[in-house]
Amino acid sequence: MNFSDSEIVASILRDRGMEPTLLISDADIILLNTCSVRDNAEQRIRKRLRELRSLKKKKKDLIIGLIGCMAERQKEKLFEEEDCLDLIVGPDAYRDLPKIIESVENGFKASNVLLSEEETYSDIIPARYHNNQVSAFISIMRGCENFCAYCVVPYTRGKERSREPNSIINEAKELFEKGYRELTLLGQNVNSYQYDDFNFAKLLSEVASVNFLLRVRFTTSHPKDISDELLHTIANTANICKSIHLPMQSGSTKVLEIMNRRYTRDWYMNRISAIKQIIPDCAITTDIIAGFSTETEEDHQQTLSLMEWVEFDYAYMFKYSVREGTDAARTLMDDVPEETKILRLNEIIALQQKLSLQSNQKDIGKVVEVLVENVSKRSQDFLSGRNSQNKMVVFPRQNYKVGDYVKVKITDCTAATLKGEAI
Ligand code: 5AD
Ligand code: SF4
Repeated sequence: MNFSDSEIVASILRDRGMEPTLLISDADIILLNTCSVRDNAEQRIRKRLRELRSLKKKKKDLIIGLIGCMAERQKEKLFEEEDCLDLIVGPDAYRDLPKIIESVENGFKASNVLLSEEETYSDIIPARYHNNQVSAFISIMRGCENFCAYCVVPYTRGKERSREPNSIINEAKELFEKGYRELTLLGQNVNSYQYDDFNFAKLLSEVASVNFLLRVRFTTSHPKDISDELLHTIANTANICKSIHLPMQSGSTKVLEIMNRRYTRDWYMNRISAIKQIIPDCAITTDIIAGFSTETEEDHQQTLSLMEWVEFDYAYMFKYSVREGTDAARTLMDDVPEETKILRLNEIIALQQKLSLQSNQKDIGKVVEVLVENVSKRSQDFLSGRNSQNKMVVFPRQNYKVGDYVKVKITDCTAATLKGEAI
């Protein structure tokens, strides 16, 4: 989401005559687009600001700005804590950036952290900074009102709002015409996309109908409202990728309730069964939090057993970190000791490593369709891309090129990558 927002910011600045640079020493303005979801993301920004502070000592008129969720969460207080900062702008105020930069040029510190109930940047054509000319993100909604107890996002990104569908479909058409072959529709909870009579299933199928050579992905789904209608749309449309990211967070119904996730372990299992039945070749990935408030060893074992039951293809795994202002911070104790959190997280990571490897081993011998994205990082003689299930596939280059669809027979794998040969 931040990557996509940076593309919107770059577009707004480009319209005012500014250009991106790859050399930090060339920059007149440096904006850090920030994430607040875990403490560790914020600490990395603090460290980066210390580095920029010394850069500014050498270049007095350098403008340094902080934008995104951390700007929204900590607001003008950051001016006191980080004296190198000139501007602070929250995620709904990017249109104001040119004016704010002008104020800074006139010698003021300036900020705008107002949240909006309408802003979707729907008329802004983002600059594209993906590391290839094949894949692009399209933001389809902003904000979140689910208020999971641990999560800061509803406070930093405000009310949920869906972007007007025609602007999304037109953006998809333009990207296809420019040669893009894979779009990822983005939102904190895409299942609750709603604009007049357009729900998410309808939007997804309209975007997929732009061209059958255009692959469509989406993220993120919330387990409480992923519908059978959506699953059937995915199953029945060849160019909607067979890959669903469904954050489970915990395998214990008790913990899920305290997290305010609004589903139980049984409900989650029911949704996974529906995915496996309706879309048999679908990859399933997830997010897991280790060591949330009140989590006992038994709760943790339930997380491990649910992971085994689902057989996730991939997972993003985190240690719980208290976020000021959330329901959990206000009403719950952070009562799992740090060492226990680390131990549990390590067990979760080790199990997922095993599951990812098993999942990839099952693909050996299969022929998969790969959309080529890049020349492989390791060797110029290999190409890399992903299959419909979002697994990275590496194969000998021959005469294929970025943007091609190639049928690849899988011959080998690691837990992270499939290897094969074009057929
Ligand atoms: N601590 C740890 N992980 C968190 N996430 C969100 N908030 C927290 C937190 N306070 C994780 C969730 C979410 C992902 C984007 O980040 O797993 O799905
Ligand atoms: Fe955070 Fe929950 Fe919203 Fe996801 S659904 S952004 S975890 S509040």
